[in-house]
Amino acid sequence: MIVHLNGHFLPIEDAKISVLDRGFIFGDGVYEFVPVYRRQPFRLPQHLARLQHSLDGIRLANPHTETEWASIIDELVAKQPFDDQGVYFQVTRGVAKRDHTFPPGVPATVFMMSNPLAMPSAEQIEKGVAVVSAEDNRWRRCDLKTISLVGNVLMRQLAADAGAVETVMFRDGHLTEASASNVLVVIDGTIVAPPKDNLILPGITYGAVYEFARDAGLPFEIRPVTRAKAFVADEMWLTSSTKEVLAVTSMDGRPFASGAPGPMFRKMHALFQAHKPR
Ligand code: PDD
Repeated sequence: MIVHLNGHFLPIEDAKISVLDRGFIFGDGVYEFVPVYRRQPFRLPQHLARLQHSLDGIRLANPHTETEWASIIDELVAKQPFDDQGVYFQVTRGVAKRDHTFPPGVPATVFMMSNPLAMPSAEQIEKGVAVVSAEDNRWRRCDLKTISLVGNVLMRQLAADAGAVETVMFRDGHLTEASASNVLVVIDGTIVAPPKDNLILPGITYGAVYEFARDAGLPFEIRPVTRAKAFVADEMWLTSSTKEVLAVTSMDGRPFASGAPGPMFRKMHALFQAHKPR
């Protein structure tokens, strides 16, 4: 597999970084993940805007212009032998003697790879998926897509331990998101999503679902969702670049709502498929 490291395309076996890279030592960096359908990146401008927001949040200069990012992605995508891809890229604060303070004059480390895009299975779409719930104990800058993911890793493992796909989190009695997905609910025929504040990642798929709903005239409201309301919602959805939209049909080992994907999910799933590059 050919990957990109600091301006060079090379086989993954030959891609090497220093053990002093601040990404390795401190988790001091940010990342993006862009789904690519039939070799066309989905919503790339939105992903690059979010990358800029994450970089600004950790006070790291963007090493590339949007045009440069787009051409590196195009070149990497063209080098892979499969059409549907998931492009992962990260920018760290570079290599320096271990010291928490930002090192002056050190170039960022840029790494990019593209794997076959993991997409939801037909069974997950038809039957929905199981989740567990947990108290959100991550830091309060969850709007930044940082590579320091141990909080999310621990959350995801709770789901894996229970044979579920995601952990849906609540903070101070309100729904935030899941370990690697946003969470939306349907209440009385309205799609309700938590506000994009500092407690959740501003998901690109969440944004896409918002636009598709608005254009199709489906009611959509952005407002805080209490834990109590979330548990009795008519539907709950997960959104992410690899899950697209999936219905939650089991929560903490019990059926969620009807135990089957709801009618609004069916509509949104169809809209999503209609809008994907093809
Ligand atoms: N995760 N919230 C969190 C914490 C996430 O990690 C993700 C995505 C999302 C959904 O964002 P988007 O719709 O832009 O994919 C929400 C990616 C896929 C990952 O870490 O692999």
